[in-house]
Amino acid sequence: MADSTDVRKLIYYPVGEYLMDHGEGIHLYDAEGGEYIDCASGTFNLSLGYGHPEIVKAMQEQAERLIHATSAFQTAPVNELVRRLVEVSPENLARVHLKVSGGSTANEGAVKMAQVSTGRSGVITLFRSHHGQTMLTTTMSGESFRKAPFPHLMPGVLHVPDPYCLRCFYKQRPDTCGLLCVERVNDFIDYGSNGDVACIVVEPVSGSGGNIVPPDGYLQALRTLCDERGIALVFDEIQTGIGRVGRMFAAEHFGVAPDILTTGKGLGGSGAQVAAVLADERMTGLGADHHSFTYGGNILAAAAAARTLDVIARPGFLENVRSVGAHVMERLRELARRHACVVDVRGLGLMIGIELGDEDGAPSTALAQLLAERGMDHGLILRTSRYGRGNVVKIRPPLIMTHTEADLMCDRLDALFAAEIR
Ligand SMILES: Cc1ncc(COP(=O)(O)O)c(C=O)c1O
Repeated sequence: MADSTDVRKLIYYPVGEYLMDHGEGIHLYDAEGGEYIDCASGTFNLSLGYGHPEIVKAMQEQAERLIHATSAFQTAPVNELVRRLVEVSPENLARVHLKVSGGSTANEGAVKMAQVSTGRSGVITLFRSHHGQTMLTTTMSGESFRKAPFPHLMPGVLHVPDPYCLRCFYKQRPDTCGLLCVERVNDFIDYGSNGDVACIVVEPVSGSGGNIVPPDGYLQALRTLCDERGIALVFDEIQTGIGRVGRMFAAEHFGVAPDILTTGKGLGGSGAQVAAVLADERMTGLGADHHSFTYGGNILAAAAAARTLDVIARPGFLENVRSVGAHVMERLRELARRHACVVDVRGLGLMIGIELGDEDGAPSTALAQLLAERGMDHGLILRTSRYGRGNVVKIRPPLIMTHTEADLMCDRLDALFAAEIR
């Protein structure tokens, strides 16, 4: 790790001490031979793990043929990706916009589509949301600490409480609340918004905010509210999509069709840079000049993404995600019974969160941080919610994880908790 010390001073942002060398499947290896199970799938994007052979092959073959052509032309990989995305997404989402450079610009594109289609401007998002790092998506995200340095945030964006039942904003209980958190959105629209709301953007399960799984009926109720008020419902499935929750999209799991859905991260399989906006026919109208990025619809990435969808749609793949996910949840709930600091284990598929609290049950960010830091000594790459400011440890390994690998990960988590928690 010594030879990387000087370079670290040249990199604008902080970089950790580990020099990573190669990866395979769920494992990442450092230059000194250290091995780690990546419980965060890179940046939650390596749905097929490190160096999946089919993705590597697809990219190698495509690289030799054609890496880039302007998106004004058709190419076979892009055509294939578009067809596959329409096939695997909710039925009403029949239009694909690929000319985005990642999740943030996909979400901006979704908002622009909603604005053009509805003729309105306002945007509603949830408290603990994260939608990206462009100026609009920074504004949309519900993390105020990330906005603090920037004076020019966008007007017309309103945040409403999320369906975080464990620590309900309205101090209700899920069995008796009648989904007050949806009902109250009407008040926010009537009294708190700019009076001209184009869309409500939600992550079906909050990713960075703390792995918050909404209660039954929440997304259906939001769908009804949007229909009644002529507002477009946008699902940000940058994290939840491409098999993460045990279905191709969380929309399918919850049985709710959004008007627009964004996907990215896991779509690249083993790390190709690709994202997309999927839209209902009613959401068309955004001009070609109004949202187009040079590396959007990149051919190399499209070849990787089309192959990723092939692999994930194969019989048995998503069943394995659901069954390994259920097994991990069971093991983590058993761990929770041994450690009072684990106040909740929740999730869907392989999108799981371990919420930590102090002796009074109050959120313990310090504990989550400690576990994430010490995890490396136990061969675990762990990330915490709210970019280190939250009290949830996120367990989102590559979707190719086997039962045996899941047990190895859980054994290491057991050892980590036993060593660090008194
Ligand atoms: C839910 C969600 N939406 C959007 C984004 C932004 O995606 P990108 O970093 O590719 O711009 C992220 C990234 O973490 C995310 O988790």
